[in-house]
This record gives sequence, structure tokens and C-alpha cells, in this order.
Amino acid sequence: MNDSNRGMIEAWNSVLFTKYSRFKHLLVDGLSQHSEAAFERCGYPQGARVLDIGCGFGDCTLGIAQRVGPSGEAVGIDCAENFIRAAETEARKASIGNARFFVGDAQSGELGGPYDYAFARMGTMFFAKPEQAMANIRQALNPSGVFTQIVWRRRDENPWLHEAELCVKKILPVMEPQGTNQGPNGPGPFSMTAPDAVSTMLQGAGFARVTFERHDCDICIGRDLDDAIEFALAFGPSGEAVRLAGAEGEKRKPQLVTALKQTLAPFARPDGLWAPSSTWFISATNPS
Ligand SMILES: C[S@@+](CC[C@H](N)C(=O)[O-])C[C@H]1O[C@@H](n2cnc3c(N)ncnc32)[C@H](O)[C@@H]1O
Repeated sequence: MNDSNRGMIEAWNSVLFTKYSRFKHLLVDGLSQHSEAAFERCGYPQGARVLDIGCGFGDCTLGIAQRVGPSGEAVGIDCAENFIRAAETEARKASIGNARFFVGDAQSGELGGPYDYAFARMGTMFFAKPEQAMANIRQALNPSGVFTQIVWRRRDENPWLHEAELCVKKILPVMEPQGTNQGPNGPGPFSMTAPDAVSTMLQGAGFARVTFERHDCDICIGRDLDDAIEFALAFGPSGEAVRLAGAEGEKRKPQLVTALKQTLAPFARPDGLWAPSSTWFISATNPS
């Protein structure tokens, strides 16, 4: 049994699930701007079977289910049971009958193929062994099946997270979180930023025709300044810096709040605070 993701899976099913649930109002709406643009390019046809990897709350899986229609099927896999239960609830509420969800580790688990397509929105950056995961996903695809992944580009191209990170790290002692800008060499949100390394990894996993398309858009980081500050203190690299600083982080909260107010205020608009974000749409084909 391959349990190299065990610690990460426990985190996704507990502390990270709680965090994502708390900021769902920002994350699902913000990220869906990237996935809606990706769906336009994927053009999933009626009748297709599509696997959504690291499906989280399942909103992409449900979107795909609507695109492929009743003769097709969208299947969401997530390693965290809490996310899968939440996704099943959403599917029931929306009365979508051709979406199905299951708990599993996409790196090494049985994925229930063959699928015509695989898709992931931010669901593939957290594997301990990414090449093994990519090979497992490829093997679940039909010949000529296409895998589309949305992943973050470099931190400095993502001010929606990076501005708060820079601000917090000026105040707190820096303890590096997992992940780097120059992946894939460690699980984390920025582990797939480097096209050369990622395309080599995908080819190593047996994929062909690997392409990268950049997609930029502003996303909402808070309904108001207080919401954005709470988000920054709890989520992403800035939230991780606060968490890693422990008691020192708690002690310096008033100073952090004052500094974040200054950093984030310029992003205010009448409809909330919005900051630039940037992703890669990575497409790769299982050779026929
Ligand atoms: C950043 S969240 C993205 C969730 C969702 N796709 C979205 O865009 O809102 C990453 C998701 O990947 C899942 N995940 C992480 N490692 C995984 C693994 N080894 N197998 C399956 N799912 C995994 C997490 O539980 C989490 O739901």
C-alpha cells in the first residue's frame, strides 16, 4: 500500500477542509473564473466520461456533468472524505444525476476508468510523487484521452496571494512553507509553475502533446477589507506563515492587521477587493 500522501490527506480532511469551508465564498467563485475559461477550451461533448481530480466541493464536477449531459458522466475523486460528502450534498441539491463522487488517492488508487477526459482545477499540485500520479491518471484515460489541469503560475504573478505573503513575512520570522516556485519538487500550490519541469514530468508519465496556456484574471479576495484581512491571516502562504510562527504570530496579530490593511486597501472596488491571479491551463494527451 502506497501511503506517501498520508500526512497530506489527513490535513486535507481536517484543517484544510475547515479552512476551505470558511472561505468557500471566495474560493469557489474566484477559481471558477479560471475553470469556466478552461471549459470553453475543453469543449466536453455530450456523452463523454470525465474524471475530475481533487474535486473538492465538486462544483467543477457538476459543471462538467451539465456539459456532457445525461448520456455522459462526470466522476469526482478526492482524497478527503469531508470534501466528497460535501460534493455529494451539492449534487443532490442541484438534482444532477450524472455526477458521482468517490474517496481515493489519485496518485496510486484505482480511478475507475477508462475516461475520455480527465480534468483538475488546482487538484494536482499536492502529490508526494507527481510523476507516479500523472502516470496513474494517464492509465485511466482512453487512447487519445486528454487531461487538462489548471495550476497556479509563479507566486509573483499571483498578487491575490503574494501581496499578503510579502506583507506578513516582513513582520514575522520566515519559516518556509511546503512548495516552491520552481516545481515540481515538493507538494504545494506553486509546485507546478515551471513549464519545462512539468512538461518533462508529463512526458515521463507517458503523455504526449503537452501544451501550456496562460490565463489571467482578477479574483475577489474579500467582500470587504475585514474579510480580506481574515482571508490573508488564515489562508495561502500568508496564513501558513502566521500558523508556522505560532505564539509569535498570535502576539503580532494587531501589527499584522494594520500592515495588511495598508497592503490590501488598494485592491478595493465597489463590489469587494479584487486582485490579479494567473494560472496555466496544461493539456496533455494519452497517445493512441
Ligand atoms: C486546492 S484544492 C482544489 C479543490 C477543487 N478542485 C477546487 O478547485 O476548488 C485541492 C484538492 O485536491 C485534493 N487532493 C489533494 N491530494 C489528493 C490526492 N492525492 N488524491 C486525490 N485528491 C487529492 C484535496 O483534498 C483538495 O480537495
